[in-house]
Amino acid sequence: MSIFVNNNKNLEFHLTNNKISYIITVLKNNQIGNIYFGKAIKHRESFDHLMINRCCVLAPYNFEDDMDFSLETTRCEYPVFGKGDYRKEAFNIKDENGSTVNYPTFVSYSIYKGKEEYSKLPSTYCENEEDITTLEILLEDKVQKYQIILKYHLFENYGSISRSSKFINLSKHKLELNKALSFNLDFDSNNFNLLTLDGAWTRERHINERALLPGIIQIESLRGASSANHNPSLILKDKNTLDENTNDAYGFSLIYSGNFEANVQVDTYNTTRVQMGINSSTFKWILSPNETFQTPEALICFSNNGINGLSNTFHRTIENHIIKSKYKNKVRPILLNNWEATYFNFTEDKLLQLASKAKEVGVELFVLDDGWFGERNDDTSSLGDWYTNTSKLPNGIGELAKKIKDIGLKFGLWFEPEMINIKSKLYKENPNWVISTPNRESCFGRNQFVLDFTNDEVVEYIYSKMSIIISDTKLDYIKWDMNRNITEPFSNLLSKDQQGEFFHRYILGVYKLYEKLTKEFPNVLFESCASGGGRFDLGMMYYAPQAWCSDDTDAIERLKIQYGTSLVYPISTIGSHVSAIPNHQVGRNTSLKFRSDVAYFGTFGYELDITTMSNEEIEKIKDDIKFFKEYRELIQFGDFVRLESPFKGNTCSWMVISKDKKTAILAYYKILATANPPLNKIKLKGLDNNLLYKIENNHFYGDELMNVGFNLEIPFNGTARSEYYKGKITTGTDFGDFTSQLYIIKAE
Ligand code: GLA
Repeated sequence: MSIFVNNNKNLEFHLTNNKISYIITVLKNNQIGNIYFGKAIKHRESFDHLMINRCCVLAPYNFEDDMDFSLETTRCEYPVFGKGDYRKEAFNIKDENGSTVNYPTFVSYSIYKGKEEYSKLPSTYCENEEDITTLEILLEDKVQKYQIILKYHLFENYGSISRSSKFINLSKHKLELNKALSFNLDFDSNNFNLLTLDGAWTRERHINERALLPGIIQIESLRGASSANHNPSLILKDKNTLDENTNDAYGFSLIYSGNFEANVQVDTYNTTRVQMGINSSTFKWILSPNETFQTPEALICFSNNGINGLSNTFHRTIENHIIKSKYKNKVRPILLNNWEATYFNFTEDKLLQLASKAKEVGVELFVLDDGWFGERNDDTSSLGDWYTNTSKLPNGIGELAKKIKDIGLKFGLWFEPEMINIKSKLYKENPNWVISTPNRESCFGRNQFVLDFTNDEVVEYIYSKMSIIISDTKLDYIKWDMNRNITEPFSNLLSKDQQGEFFHRYILGVYKLYEKLTKEFPNVLFESCASGGGRFDLGMMYYAPQAWCSDDTDAIERLKIQYGTSLVYPISTIGSHVSAIPNHQVGRNTSLKFRSDVAYFGTFGYELDITTMSNEEIEKIKDDIKFFKEYRELIQFGDFVRLESPFKGNTCSWMVISKDKKTAILAYYKILATANPPLNKIKLKGLDNNLLYKIENNHFYGDELMNVGFNLEIPFNGTARSEYYKGKITTGTDFGDFTSQLYIIKAE
C-alpha cells in the first residue's frame, strides 16, 4: 500500500493498495481535481494524460488565455461556489462583507502512517499504524483567511478510503460556515444505477434502485437522527449489471448519526457528483478566530465484484476499523429480551421465570427492556428517572441483576438516555432541560420530549445516573433506545447566532455520553436502537457494535430489512430476534423454524414468552441455540453473499462462507407456496473450485456448485400430496407458505 506523489508540473497523488487506485492532482488553478477512482491501476510517473480538459463555449474560464480550463467541466475534489462550477459546492463560508465566494488553493501536503482519531466524533481508527496511510492536503483562501485540510485515509487491506475536511479560521473575525460536507467525488460518467436504503419505522432499509439522469437526487434527514427514512449510505453500480457479483460498485457511508445530506448530481456533460455530510439546511457554524471545525468522516468503498464484493469490503472495513468495543470481531451473546414477552407488565417473579427458562434453553444474556425505572408502567411517564421502579421491582434493580446472574446469565438493561417525560421527577426539577422553542407550542411524540444534549450539564447528569445503575447491577449490556425525533430545535444555551449549531451540537452531546460510558465501562456491550432501526449508522456503530434492526420482528418482513441492511452493515451488527406468533406487527403466523432461520443471520436472540411454550417448541429452541452456537462465528464473521433478492420475487437466498472456504451455510426462504414449482437452480458463490463439498447426502465440487448450480427448490412444496398422506409431512414447517431451508456445506 502506498501513497505515491508525482512531482510533475502538476503535483499528483496516487493512493493505492492492490484493490483500488484513487488519483488526484493539483489543478492549474491550484485547487484539487480528481483523475480516477476505481480498480487499482499501475503507478506511473504521470497521469496527466488521463485528465480531460474540455473547452465548452460559454463556460466561464479562470485564465484569460486558456479557455480549456473551466471549473464547470472539471472533476473537483472539494468544489467551491462562485468560480464557474455551477454544480453543488462542497462547502460555503460567508465573509464579513456578506460574500459567499470561496477560493482556497493548495499550500502543502503531508503523508503519514496511521491516523489520528477525531476528537468528539466517531471515526475510523487503526490499532496498527501500518493499516492506514493518511494524506492531508492543506488549502488556504488568502482573501477570506481560512484554511481547509482535506483528509484522505487509505486502508491497507480493503478497497476503501475515508475522507473528511477540517476548517481553520485564520482571520481576525468570525466566519460563518454555512455548509461543510465531508467529501465530494466527481465521476466522468453517469453510467450508474443509484441504490439507497429507505423506509420508515418497521420498514427500514428497503432497497430502492434507479438509473441516474441529469439533475439531483438528494436523500437527507432533518430529524436530528440519521433516520429510518433514509440511511446515510449511497451505492452506485454499473448501470448494465443485473446481478450482484460483477462490475464496478462504489459505496459511501457517513460516520454520523445526525442530520445528513447525500447528493448525487448528474450535470449536462453526464458527469456524476457524489457528496455527503452534515445537512447544510439545518447547519450554520460560527467559527471564531483560530477555531477549527472538523467534519464527520465518510467511508468510501469500491469493488469490481459488484454489490456483493462491495458489501464484503464495507463489512470488513467496519469490523476492523470502526467497531471499537471489546466485542470487536467477537461472537455476540444470544439474548432473551422481555419486551414482546411482557411489555410493561412484569414482576420480579415473572422476569426470573423467563430467565430460568432462558438459561435452560441455552440463552446467555437476559435483557430487561422498558419499564424498570421511575414509575413507568406505560409510555406516558418517567423517562429521565433512572432509578428502580419499586412498585414492580420492590427489591431493587441491583437485587434482580444479582438473581439473574446467579441463574448463570449475563444481565442487560434498556435506557432511553436522551429523553424525558413531563410526568417525571427530572422534569419537575429541570423543566428547562427540554428542547423547545420560546413562545411556540411543542409537538408531541410518544408522550415524550428530547433532552437538550447540547447542554453539558444534562449530559453529565444522565451519565452520573446511568453509571450508578451500571455499577449497582454490574451490567453486561445496554440497549440504548431513542424513540422521538426532534421538533422545535432550539437551545436556551446557544446565542441567537449559534442556533444553526444546534443539531450538530446535539449529536456531539450524544457522542460525548457514549464516549464517557464506553470508556468507563469497557465491558458493557451496547446495542443502539431508535424505535428499531432509526439510527442504524456508522457513527453509532463506533460505540455500539450492534443495533436493533427493526421493531418489525415478522420473519417475512425481516427478509427485506435484513437483506437491505446487509448491503452496508456486517451481519454481526444486525439485531435479530425470534418473536411470538401471531406476529405483533403484522399478525402473520410463521413456523418457529422459519423465524429461527431468518433470525440466525444477525446477533440472534429471542423476544417472546418462552415460559408458555410447548415442550416440543422448547426442544426445538434448544436445538436451534445449539446449532447457532456451533455456527455463529461463521455466520457473524464469514463472507456474506446475497443470492436472490426478496425485493424481486417470491424467494430469497443468501449464504455465508468461512474464510478458509471449507464451511458454508446456504439459506433459502420461500414466501408463498407454489404448486408444482419450476426448478430454482442457483449458482453458489465464494467456494473453492477444487474442494469436494457435502450437502446433505450429496457431494459436489465447488466448481460444480458455482457453475452448474444447486437446486434450491424445496421438492415437496406443493407436490407433496402423497408424502402428506403418508404422514411424512405433518406440520407447516416444510409445507405450505413461509418455508425455509438451511444447507450446511462442508468440505470433505
Ligand atoms: C422501542 C424499541 C423497542 C422497545 C420499546 C420500549 O420501540 O424499538 O424494541 O424497546 O421502544 O418502549
